[in-house]
Amino acid sequence: MARILVLMGGDAPEREISLKSGRAVAKAVARNGHDVWAVDISFRHKNSMPPANIPPPDPEAILTCSPMTLPYWLTALKPDVVFPILHGGYGEDGTLQAMLELFQVRYASPPPLACQLAMNKIQFKRLLIAEGIPTPEFCVVDGDEFERDPELALDKVEHAIGYPCVVKPSSQGSTIGASVVNHPDRKALREALAEAFHYDPEALIERKIIGKEITVAVLGSKGKAKALPVIEIVPKTGDFFDFKTKYTPGMADHRIPPSISDDAQQRAKEIAVKVHNLLGCRTVTRTDMMVDSDENIFVLELNAIPGMTEVSLVPDAAKTSGISFEALMEILLEEALQTPLRGW
Ligand SMILES: Nc1ncnc2c1ncn2[C@@H]1O[C@H](COP(=O)(O)OP(=O)(O)O)[C@@H](O)[C@H]1O
Ligand SMILES: [Mg+2]
Repeated sequence: MARILVLMGGDAPEREISLKSGRAVAKAVARNGHDVWAVDISFRHKNSMPPANIPPPDPEAILTCSPMTLPYWLTALKPDVVFPILHGGYGEDGTLQAMLELFQVRYASPPPLACQLAMNKIQFKRLLIAEGIPTPEFCVVDGDEFERDPELALDKVEHAIGYPCVVKPSSQGSTIGASVVNHPDRKALREALAEAFHYDPEALIERKIIGKEITVAVLGSKGKAKALPVIEIVPKTGDFFDFKTKYTPGMADHRIPPSISDDAQQRAKEIAVKVHNLLGCRTVTRTDMMVDSDENIFVLELNAIPGMTEVSLVPDAAKTSGISFEALMEILLEEALQTPLRGW
């Protein structure tokens, strides 16, 4: 039996989904017989120091801490493993993971560098290109560059990528700040860039891939990393997989097996494992990809802390290969327990 601290919530736009993922994880880990404390971490809980008497483990009682008071909670709870179930922001970009390494606490997520590379879509794509892994053609526009001479920045995008294109802030998840510009339209492109700069000083403009959207979860690390079954995501409305469609149960269908050939599924799995290992990931990640009409595969991004609600993609892929939600949690816990702590 292990002492587990499940951290959830956070301060990123995905806070609500993280609370749902965190609650589901806390309950499943408790069902496996471990002592679980569920803690909502957020700057909104300013002075939330641990009480003198730590409450007994209870996955349903959500305690509160702030990033500032987290070290005190770690000292008070002495968890064997932290589950950072935080989507976006400091919980997924490696900051929290680095803090846990500094305090020599084991955690069930990829390490800081892997998280940072996954969160920065531009650096991520540069790495893919260096390794010959296919990703949609792209160009980068800097916020300063856009402010100085928007017309020149638009010329650059039209020349390098053209239409249809997808404009995204470099470091955001859940389609936040992203737009599709389907037809030649400088005004729409300008608005899309301005929208992306609300969220990040750098924008990424990609060629839009017309085709099917798939995602592949990878479990484990290095030689033991294994892809779970490929899922095709079929949105019920529109052609852009947005925040609402992604997280509203029933708004998107998970198609397993996907409507692509066995050969394409095999290639997608190999690519996902390669990307997972290239970043130095462990535990579980999820790589989002597009498949065009010739079954060419393009990597969009890797999610270092994928959604873990009952309706999420990773638990669904695991279930298809005979791994229950509880068993999945136990695999993550085992891997975290076996990861050596860094000495300083
Ligand atoms: N180049 C692209 N071509 C076609 N669709 C895209 C492209 N980039 C993103 N999308 C769509 O936008 C969604 C979100 O993009 P993604 O890169 O996965 O970022 P995030 O999930 O972090 O917001 C994808 O799931 C896909 O539906
Ligand atoms: Mg995505």
